Amino acid sequence: MKKLVTWTFAISLVVSAVRHPHTQNPAPQLGKNTVKEVVAAMTTEEKAKLLVGMGLSDDSPDLPMSEEAKKLPEKVPGAAGRTHAIPRLGIPSLTLADGPAGVRIKPRRNNTDKTYYATGFPIATLLASSWDTDLVNRVGAAFGSEAHDYGIDILLAPGMNIHRNPLGGRNFEYYSEDPLVTGSMAGAFVRGVQSKGVGASIKHFAGNNQEFNRRQSNSVIDERALREIYLKSFEIAVRDSNPWTVMSSYNLINGTFTSESRQLLTDLLRGEWGFKGFVMSDWWGGNDPIAQMKAGNDLLMPGLVHQTELIVKAVNDGTVSREQLDTNVERVLNIILQTPTFKQVKYSDQPDLQAHAQLARAAATEGMVLLKNDNKTLPLTRARKVALLGNSSYDLVAGGTGSGDVNKKYVISLDQGLAAAGFTLDDSLKDTYTKFITEEKAKRPRVPWFLLPPPIPEMPIGVDRLQQLANDAELAIVTVGRNSGEFNDRKVEDDFTLSTTERAFIENVSKVFHAQGKKVVAVLNIGGPIEIASWRSKVDAILLAWQPGQEGGHAIADVLTGKVNPSGKLATTFPVSYADVPSAKTFPGRELVGKPPLVRGPFAGKPSEAVYDESIYVGYRHYNTLGVKPAYEFGYGLSYTSFDYGDVVLSSNGARYDISVTVKNTGRVPGREVVQLYVSAPQQKLKKPESELRSFAKTRMLQPGESQKLTFSINTKDLASYDPACSCWVVEKGTYIAKVGASSLDVRGSAPFKL
Ligand code: BGC
Repeated sequence: MKKLVTWTFAISLVVSAVRHPHTQNPAPQLGKNTVKEVVAAMTTEEKAKLLVGMGLSDDSPDLPMSEEAKKLPEKVPGAAGRTHAIPRLGIPSLTLADGPAGVRIKPRRNNTDKTYYATGFPIATLLASSWDTDLVNRVGAAFGSEAHDYGIDILLAPGMNIHRNPLGGRNFEYYSEDPLVTGSMAGAFVRGVQSKGVGASIKHFAGNNQEFNRRQSNSVIDERALREIYLKSFEIAVRDSNPWTVMSSYNLINGTFTSESRQLLTDLLRGEWGFKGFVMSDWWGGNDPIAQMKAGNDLLMPGLVHQTELIVKAVNDGTVSREQLDTNVERVLNIILQTPTFKQVKYSDQPDLQAHAQLARAAATEGMVLLKNDNKTLPLTRARKVALLGNSSYDLVAGGTGSGDVNKKYVISLDQGLAAAGFTLDDSLKDTYTKFITEEKAKRPRVPWFLLPPPIPEMPIGVDRLQQLANDAELAIVTVGRNSGEFNDRKVEDDFTLSTTERAFIENVSKVFHAQGKKVVAVLNIGGPIEIASWRSKVDAILLAWQPGQEGGHAIADVLTGKVNPSGKLATTFPVSYADVPSAKTFPGRELVGKPPLVRGPFAGKPSEAVYDESIYVGYRHYNTLGVKPAYEFGYGLSYTSFDYGDVVLSSNGARYDISVTVKNTGRVPGREVVQLYVSAPQQKLKKPESELRSFAKTRMLQPGESQKLTFSINTKDLASYDPACSCWVVEKGTYIAKVGASSLDVRGSAPFKL
């Protein structure tokens, strides 16, 4: 009897302990206790675990996952990573997913027939070409709500490295060659994402402007260029949008891995700019977990078991202080507290894909750039019979590859877009292309999902066939397509320049159609600049459609038909030739033969170095200072209407200058105009570019005859240059000139002011 009572007592104790864990286990709980109390209750092993991700699900023997992680089913299949949970302290596991063109998860189907596709938005370079931060903010909000609805806590976007060279393999994921455009776009995007209760991660911090040997490439950048160009964009975004996280980059800057640089991640990012969130590494980035902890790279992603062990050992033997470790942990916990997972918010798995597709289509039209339009070839105001030529007309490149890709449900090709807009296309031509593309694709070697397969050749078409097509159709539309992605940069031959087949093809189409008085329109379906100057005279109009996302075919048709009047302008220069690019000789760097590897493992690459010897003279800062005329300059873009600029009026109020201009639509159709404010500074101690973009704005939709006054406000400190002699920002005395332009070369009015 006594035994039975004892057992009953013991069982009830266990039951009560399960029901009321606190009575038995008084460990503090995240959210109920302070972060400091939770940290104080954590063991060193738990802290190290929190600072190292759970590993990848498709792990390889080289990159093992912890036993614990292997047992836990992924919350969101296909997400890029997750952090460890510590249930004892109420700390949940976070889910992190890419990326810059949409939420990248596995498009699986579950037993209720629900699918998990995500919206394929236009690439970041297109979004920046809209020069419309409100639009980018709305796009960011759509990303945020999609991430939220799919159960993701942190979106690994936006990518915001500078377009240093047109061949950068990931430029499509990035915005611009200019830090103000980049920082403003990224800030607007982050505010949008985070308005939906999920976090963003601005990446890749910093100086990651080439893919060549990316895991051990040393970017050699002088202090002024770093501050004014490569760090400036991040500074603007951090100050503007308080991102929850920053992702450090793979590369080194001046000999130190960015993820191991305390100067970068602690002194500058937090000390000077006031960043409050946590820093995570790029996937397997950097080399020494201890140096990363000390630098302020708080979370190592996707996480390797031995990193946890190294951290525990370093804490125990005093190599890294307990205070440092606690600081890293606190930063991660402070963000966890804000996440939907921590807040146990229910997620629907049903984002509004229809609304987002509409937004993707509208955004795509806003960022397309009309480069050429002789004799008002465009818009095609009535639907006609069109000869649609070029592989990518039937196989649109919606976006780039790698982590900047998205598992989207469909891509609207250009033939589908034109057909839906009422155009008549040649079915047999479509069949020939479709067959050719399928066969050529089947010949390619198979590559893992994150790599770009080799491009297929442009389908050759004989002159006789072109002749037939020209007899039948009223005009020709020719597309030129390009793709790129992680791990590789683009190349000059057959990528920046047209291939011999493409060149002959455009030449023939031009001859045959023009002989019959029929026009030729080129549509560029590309992620970064290509050479255009040598062949543009062959065509009557050129629309730069970029890689426009899943609704691309509809969006291109919207612009070609004038349903949308193009208002995009270039946020990156299209040079005449590759040799004109300031970093042509030093990009993507050179391998340091004989130097021992800094990192090992899959995709480790080789030690190499990229010397940024053009300094601050990147993009238009170079072309316009040296008087090198580009094919299409920074800020350039045509419209189906025309705009007049009134007088530039400048007023000063202490350290603030207000510069205003009235823009009038003088054409026949409604349109929007991107207006840019450049400032030329006096050449005193520091050399200055001819002028630099200091502000920009886009008008609302102006009806024919309608005007809008735009006012740009700049502060004296916005005019500062970084002086390496004092390691400080300086605004030099003298006469400055505010220039209001329709592009960096098309200045419509100016006003001087003295400082
Ligand atoms: C890329 C990051 C990406 C990460 C996770 C890395 O290879 O550089 O941009 O967020 O993978 O997919």
